[in-house]
Amino acid sequence: PWSATTVFTPAAETGGVPLMEIVERFGTPAYVVDEADLRGRCRAFKDALPGADVAYAAKAFLCRAVASWIVEEGLSLDVCSGGELAIARSIGFPAERVIFHGNAKTPRELQQAVDDGVGRIVIDNLAEIARLAVLVPQGRRQKVLLRVIPDIEAGAHAAVRTGGEGQKFGLSIASGDAAVAVARVLGQPSLQLVGLHCHLGSQIDEVGPYVRAVRIMVEQYARVRDTHGVVLPELDLGGGQGIAYLEAEQGLSPHAYARAVLTALEERSAGLGLPAPRLTVEPGRAISGPAGLTLYRVIAVKRTLTRTFVAVDGGMSDNPRPSLYGARYTARLVGRTSRPAPPRDSATSANCAASATVTRQATLVGHHCEAGDVIAENVPLPADIRAGDVLAVAATGAYHHSMASTYNLTGRPPVVAVAGGAARLVVRREEIEDLMRREVGL
Ligand code: LLP
Repeated sequence: PWSATTVFTPAAETGGVPLMEIVERFGTPAYVVDEADLRGRCRAFKDALPGADVAYAAKAFLCRAVASWIVEEGLSLDVCSGGELAIARSIGFPAERVIFHGNAKTPRELQQAVDDGVGRIVIDNLAEIARLAVLVPQGRRQKVLLRVIPDIEAGAHAAVRTGGEGQKFGLSIASGDAAVAVARVLGQPSLQLVGLHCHLGSQIDEVGPYVRAVRIMVEQYARVRDTHGVVLPELDLGGGQGIAYLEAEQGLSPHAYARAVLTALEERSAGLGLPAPRLTVEPGRAISGPAGLTLYRVIAVKRTLTRTFVAVDGGMSDNPRPSLYGARYTARLVGRTSRPAPPRDSATSANCAASATVTRQATLVGHHCEAGDVIAENVPLPADIRAGDVLAVAATGAYHHSMASTYNLTGRPPVVAVAGGAARLVVRREEIEDLMRREVGL
């Protein structure tokens, strides 16, 4: 439960651990992930889609701990790089439950995927078909999906809309490339075409685009049957389910998503005389996003003529999303390291407490060298917010750790996992020495 209006919560905790305890043990900035919450979101998707394959999109947030929770919850894994595959394999993630994506997989990545025996490789372009076919050892058949473009625009920002013509992913249905690709894959004895894939975009909060996508995709299944006499058994609809970042937002519930998609799938398949293909979905953000928060320490408070800036010890290096996509966040004060300073006009403790509850709209900024380094606008914070205070920013479990940079040569924050009242470090802080280690000459 997160309240943007609760501005003074000294004992705020997550996973049964007080946030201030995490700050004392692990420092700031720090990413915190609530294991039970993340696992609960895995189960919500599995419950909503009983017959389907739920593949967590690793790009949202992957480390060895998260990979181990995903495998234990019985989910599959969508990876899009050799690095993500390596993390998954390092904890023994079963290769047959891995789906390998990418619009520009390197020869090395394709080889690694084939050698590891990943369950599905998603072919993105025509050239990849022959390139992959020759890598598969004699006597084996690699299961593949073809990523196609349903030409549907959905998603919170242009940079994350991947379902339309005119963006780089997939094979165009409209141009005929998708049909050419189907014929070519069917002609490759070392490849087994199990279905088609599409991914519309990210942070989608309505079911309409998914329903349209299901219909368009199933029509392609009918076309493949009519042209080649082949009934494809699987349909991968990608991810994109939206979450709430601010209190007023809803996100898209797994159940609402499932109801709409499964109904459309049954209806359209029956209408075309096809068995409904087995569904695969690839939620990333909806599983890890709400399970994470970031802890920062306030370094400076500046009151200008027009605004109050609260500057913290992190910023666009640990959360590039506001500057990349105009993403919005909220934050709250989670504790005091000391008692509130007495207000100037009174020294009584009653007035001290009251002063901390008066809120002021602040702009939360980072410590990086550009004006766009804003974490959140219009954050209600106590009027006496000051250096040393600790703030928590909500819903930072997806596309934060995974998109963090070392801009201005700052090390990336650690990841602290909380569960059952205990906190443990699962990814350590990146130190200046780590950054220096890559410097090998002059
Ligand atoms: N499947 C495929 C093929 C994808 O490309 C993606 C995300 C997903 C699944 C998972 O999407 P999700 O359920 O997490 O929305 N960095 C951006 C998001 C980029 C998403 C890229 N692909 C952000 O921070 O908003």
